[in-house]
This record gives sequence, C-alpha cells and structure tokens, in this order.
Amino acid sequence: MDRSRITDPPTMIALGIETSCDETAVAILRGGDEILANLVYSQTDLHARYGGVMPEAASRDHLRKLPSLVAEALATAGIGWDGIELVGVTYGPGLVGPLLVGMSHAAGIAVARDVPLIGVNHLAAHLFAQRLSEPAAGPPFLGLVASGGHTLLVRVRQWGDYKVVGGTRDDAAGEALDKVGRLVGLGYPAGPRMDELARQGDPTAVAFPRPMIGSGLDMSFAGLKTAAVYWLRDHPSTPVPDLCASYLEAVVDVLAEKAVQAARRLELTRIVVVGGVAANRRLREVLPLRAGERGIEVAFPPPALCTDNAAIVAACAHHRFTALGCPGSLTLVPDPNLSLDGWV
Ligand code: KG4
Ligand code: ZN
Repeated sequence: MDRSRITDPPTMIALGIETSCDETAVAILRGGDEILANLVYSQTDLHARYGGVMPEAASRDHLRKLPSLVAEALATAGIGWDGIELVGVTYGPGLVGPLLVGMSHAAGIAVARDVPLIGVNHLAAHLFAQRLSEPAAGPPFLGLVASGGHTLLVRVRQWGDYKVVGGTRDDAAGEALDKVGRLVGLGYPAGPRMDELARQGDPTAVAFPRPMIGSGLDMSFAGLKTAAVYWLRDHPSTPVPDLCASYLEAVVDVLAEKAVQAARRLELTRIVVVGGVAANRRLREVLPLRAGERGIEVAFPPPALCTDNAAIVAACAHHRFTALGCPGSLTLVPDPNLSLDGWV
C-alpha cells in the first residue's frame, strides 16, 4: 500500500460495505463522520415469502446488487474510484454466505485501489450510529442493541472498549416481534406494522409475562412468544391491535427495565439505543420515562442509522484505522458468531 496517497484522517474517504444479513448496503464517508452517500437495498420482498431470511437467496441477491450499488454510491458522493482511501466491511456476526459476498467484493476493491481493508464487527458498527448522529457526545454509555438478529446490553467505555453485560438467551427482540406478527398475518418483517397496530390497541388487554424481569441483565423472549401462541390458540377472536399492543408492551417493558438496570449497575447516566427495534414508538416513549426517573438520559439515533446500513460500518472502520492503528488485512475471513465482548 502506498501510504503517501492517504490523506489526513479528517478528510479521509472511507467506503463501507454491509451484507451480513438481508440488506445490501454501501456508504461513503469523509473524515469518519460526514456521510457523502448511504445507500441501502433491502431484500425483504425476496424473503417475505419464507417469513424469514433465506441465506442462499440472500447471498445471490447481494452478489447481484453490490456492484451497481457501489457505483451508485460513488456517483452520489461525487467520488471516483481513485478517491477511495479505505475500505471497511462487516466480517461478522451474520450469515456466512452473505458475509463472504460483501468481503470478497470489498477485498477486490481494496486490492485494485491498493488501500487498507478493515474488518468490522456488525454489532460495534450499530453503536457507531451514535457517533454519526452526535459526534460530540461520545462514550461512556450503555448501548442497547435491539434488532432482528441481536439483543444485547453493552458497556461502551470508549470507542473500541466494549463489554457485553447482558442480552437475550434465545430470540432477539425484533425476531420475537416478527414471529408473533407473522402469526397474525402482519407479513415480514412485522415489527413496523406491529408498532402501528399497537397504537390502536389496549396494552392491558392480555397480561403477557415479562420473562426474567427480576433476574439479572439477561433476557428471554422465546417463552413470551410461546405465551402468545397459546393465547391465540385459546382466544382466537382477540382483536389484533389488542394482541399487538399487549405483546409489544411486554417486549418493551423487558427491554426498558433491563437497560435501566444495567445503566444503574454500571453507574452510567446515558443509554444509547440502536438496531431496528430502536425505531419503535412505544420503546421511544417508555424507556426515556423509566430512565428519566433514575436520572438517566436516553439517545435514539435517527432510524436510518439504527437499522442496517454501511455508514456505520465505514465509521467504525475509519475509527479502527485512524484512532486505533488497526492495520488493514486481506486475509480476513468471515466470523458468523463474532462476539462484541472485548472486540477492539
Ligand atoms: O437492525 P435491523 O434493520 O436488522 C437486523 O440486523 O436485524 O432490524 C430489523 C428488525 C426487525 O425485526 C424489524 O421487525 C424490527 O427491527 N423493526 C421494528 C420497527 N422497525 C423495525 N420493530 C418494532 N418497531 C418498529 N418500528
Ligand atoms: Zn444489524
């Protein structure tokens, strides 16, 4: 790599690529926090007929879409191929086939442009939504990552210092919403539609359990989902908005309670919520209230940065390269079960 071609970090142009699940995403960032392009192509229509992500179909679709999306991102940013100074790509956690597609493409660009290739942990990337939306207000904070694939509580001491302090033992919060939503015909992913219907329903209509609410920082949503299945079997005429409102209330209650508990235990006065479920309106009402009573403030980055995108990947890669001195590596391999605990 010819380092003389790399400009100062404040103006460095980073290309980010994200393909860990069912979003093909490409972004271009200047100086780590200025978004020049942030394009997301969602495969949800492709997977809707399966009611979940079909890995083989996802890989093929990433492969089909990625080249044109990179070209489109460059055009949107007004950057030529020779303007790319760093390539960041998600290498885990996620689906191995989809990860490989993004990583191969990213490596090809890094080799062709002779620039560093920086591997990014998808969960760390989610946290960088905070840095992109509020660059001045950094760690320490308690991160709540709640998406379709993950639900975890992370102590962020500083960027690059992550300790996972709790999380789900089975289904992710988004997955729990999607699965029950599917049962009542809300399609895939059901979270946004459940959010909407819940506004018209009674959250006290069904007394769903709050699993593990009083025990530590771990969570469990599988039992709650089963409770909803049995409830529907025994009470098939329950109005869907009431069912949605009650079920969502239970999920939100658990997330809010655990996040506040974690922040208090760690003496953190700020909670940052990221991941697709951070878009949920009920969570946005309940958590700040609950946290506020304890003197804890809550930040929700804009939904476009909370859901899967590549701007957060590029931001994380930029930080790893410039602030942490992480060298690029072309021998990066996918790590489907990559943990965030202790990952730098
Ligand atoms: O972060 P994300 O885009 O992708 C993953 O990494 O999974 O999160 C997608 C998840 C899905 O489960 C979806 O149903 C949920 O986020 N979601 C919502 C809302 N918008 C997306 N859940 C509740 N309310 C919403 N408004
Ligand atoms: Zn994600």
